[in-house]
Amino acid sequence: MRTLMIVDDEEGPRQALELLFKDEHEILLADSGFKALGFARRQPVDAAIVDLRMPNMSGIETLSQLKKIDPAIEVIILTAYETLETARQALQLGACDYLTKPFEIATIRHAVSRAMERRERSERVQGYHQRLLDLQEEVHSKALREEMARTRGEILASIIHDMNGPLTAIFGLVEMINQTIHASPAMEGEALEAVKERLHRVTLQINNCVNISRRYLGFLRGGLDENASVRVNQTLHDLKELLKTHSSAKTNELMIHALPSEVSARINGIDLLQILLNLATNALQCTSAPHKVEISGRCLLEPLTLSEFADGPCDLFINREGLVNTPPLVALAIRDTGPGMPAETVGKIFEAYFTTRPLGQGTGLGLSIVKRLVEQANGALHLHTAVGLGTVFTVYLRARENRPDLRSANPPPTS
Ligand SMILES: Nc1ncnc2c1ncn2[C@@H]1O[C@H](COP(=O)(O)OP(=O)(O)O)[C@@H](O)[C@H]1O
Ligand SMILES: [Mg+2]
Repeated sequence: MRTLMIVDDEEGPRQALELLFKDEHEILLADSGFKALGFARRQPVDAAIVDLRMPNMSGIETLSQLKKIDPAIEVIILTAYETLETARQALQLGACDYLTKPFEIATIRHAVSRAMERRERSERVQGYHQRLLDLQEEVHSKALREEMARTRGEILASIIHDMNGPLTAIFGLVEMINQTIHASPAMEGEALEAVKERLHRVTLQINNCVNISRRYLGFLRGGLDENASVRVNQTLHDLKELLKTHSSAKTNELMIHALPSEVSARINGIDLLQILLNLATNALQCTSAPHKVEISGRCLLEPLTLSEFADGPCDLFINREGLVNTPPLVALAIRDTGPGMPAETVGKIFEAYFTTRPLGQGTGLGLSIVKRLVEQANGALHLHTAVGLGTVFTVYLRARENRPDLRSANPPPTS
């Protein structure tokens, strides 16, 4: 049953209307505009018949307030003193009908049933609209997931590539050991020492492989782990390896500076790599003209002064509210000497699918992914750009004092 509210300061018309509609609708009776608003705030009201002349709050005022509470409430205005001006006002405020007292039963019945139909229609439209929004959100999330999986694929391919080095070394060493054993089955002296030394190197390389696989398996399990953390210099080293195979890295000058001392960032390792990889690829590909890209980091022992990061035509600060601004923090800057971005572009770059790259080259999802991962880690992202000079993206993440961590004691820091 739909709910019909009858708002009239006089008892006579209230009772008459109640009698008329009580079998078809759930009836709410209000003897003033204030009461009517109270009802509408507490429960859904489908339609209301509102008397125009009431003391304190007029019918027009009641109509306007009801529409503020729920724009889809259908309101029929009833009046004994019709004027063109009030009729015009009522219709402008979204009343669906305007009837004069005394009303004919057929007329008011017709008006109420039309109001209920309109209400039903607008609910249906609202439903479609919501469904459309849900679908859009679903498509967007799916595209983001696919794009993330693709970069993850790239990262995993580079891990396998990382393992290839030590495995090739092991293969060669074992081959040499085999030859030595064949040449002198009873080994002693120098030959024995050489075999021992090579076996030692085999063990080291195997350790390398084990470390690499453990580290990445840890990341893969990590997901949204609150306690996840990764060594920043380790990640910068991995990034360098990943970018070696990027064609755009060859024509440009790419510099990756390690932090002077190792710091761990409180984020899943693959997430950090993905963030840096997306920002670095953008920086490398922002123009076809040769330019410089520099990646560097520093540790901050004070919280960020957020008032210094005003948004403007050249600056954006992402995740001001979600940032956990407790030091130590680590700041990672990706700086390029590319073309920079005009203000119109700055306003759009974090929209999904926004790209200025030629058709088929950009997905427009890179920065959406960066934003999502930074937010997930309770970090922040700052953009500063200047047309003709270049762009700097700075990622801020919570850091952790470093404890010696044997699991990731792998390749040397990048320089
Ligand atoms: N370093 C940069 N310099 C200039 N423009 C950039 C830079 N990084 C991002 N952009 C702009 O932001 C847009 C969106 O980037 P992104 O979300 O990674 O999608 P895509 O790289 O697929 O275009 C790019 O098309 C480009 O216009
Ligand atoms: Mg991109």
